[in-house]
Amino acid sequence: MNVIGVIGAGQMGAGIAQVSAKAGYRVLLSDMSVERAQSGKDGIARQLARAVEKEKITADAAKAALDAIEPVGDLAAMTPCDLVIEAATERESVKRQIFETVAKGLSDSAILASNTSSIPITRLAQAAHDPARFMGVHFFNPVPVMGLIELIRGLATSDATVAAVEAFGQSLNKRIVHANDAPGFIVNRVLMPMLNEACFALGEGVATIADIDAACQLGLNHPMGPFTLADFIGLDTCLEITRVLFEGTGDPKFRPAPLLVKYVEAGWYGRKVKRGFYDYSGAEPVPTR
Ligand code: 3HC
Repeated sequence: MNVIGVIGAGQMGAGIAQVSAKAGYRVLLSDMSVERAQSGKDGIARQLARAVEKEKITADAAKAALDAIEPVGDLAAMTPCDLVIEAATERESVKRQIFETVAKGLSDSAILASNTSSIPITRLAQAAHDPARFMGVHFFNPVPVMGLIELIRGLATSDATVAAVEAFGQSLNKRIVHANDAPGFIVNRVLMPMLNEACFALGEGVATIADIDAACQLGLNHPMGPFTLADFIGLDTCLEITRVLFEGTGDPKFRPAPLLVKYVEAGWYGRKVKRGFYDYSGAEPVPTR
């Protein structure tokens, strides 16, 4: 593989573009407009500059990685790609539309992959150019820091597709795990019930936000407590994935906590809107309960 396409220049897409370029691939980074794609590249430039300051990467390597990323505003530009990774909005209709558009220009050997955190891969494959050359490739936030990629094969995904994407993931220096196309795959199947349970515990008055976070951070040696992590991921995303688990399995153990639903209904989505379980409007996050 030489050329990687990344669709969506938000936090996940930009992270995927950054680690791919750093590993030596040429990257076409697209978004709704070339300006948005460029803004994703500007963010990567800031990340790389910080890495140079910390002497994690040489200035030459950072420049080479940045030069390898070309922002594009049109999916027709993805024609030269060997692998296209979609990291757009987590909405099925948006992803299906993207697959139908990008498929028109892809070569006979190109692979299409989705970074979806919860939409069934077999269902998404129906909108792809060739379900045999379609699969899930799930990265974690922040992509440059997190060492894992989950690979999810749909019913029709070929062995050759899995092998090629696995080799790509390994070339990024990430640990690869394989998951079946089941709701939440591995990580979200285990993580979301924990975050949801923290919301039940808070709602039932077991402890405060600060104490539940401290208990999990220090008592379990997690880098972040569940409320800090839920705010980091986005409470709307957490609720959406929890609903996928609940509806996809039909098991009441996955029912969303009423407090999580309330926060999302209030528009308190977490860090991105400066208000979730913590208030981020000041210098330090302040628990809201
Ligand atoms: N992009 C790139 N690098 C970043 C970063 C970002 N957004 N945020 C932090 N970093 C780097 C820092 O530069 C620093 O690098 P260094 O060690 O080389 O200097 C390193 O990460 C540690 O950062 P900080 O010292 O600023 O802060 P922390 O020690 O608190 O670490 C954290 C921050 C890495 C985010 C850590 O708290 C963590 O690992 N949290 C858990 C994250 C997690 O669980 N992510 C998965 C979410 S689930 C998911 O993505 C799936 C989806 O489907 C929901």
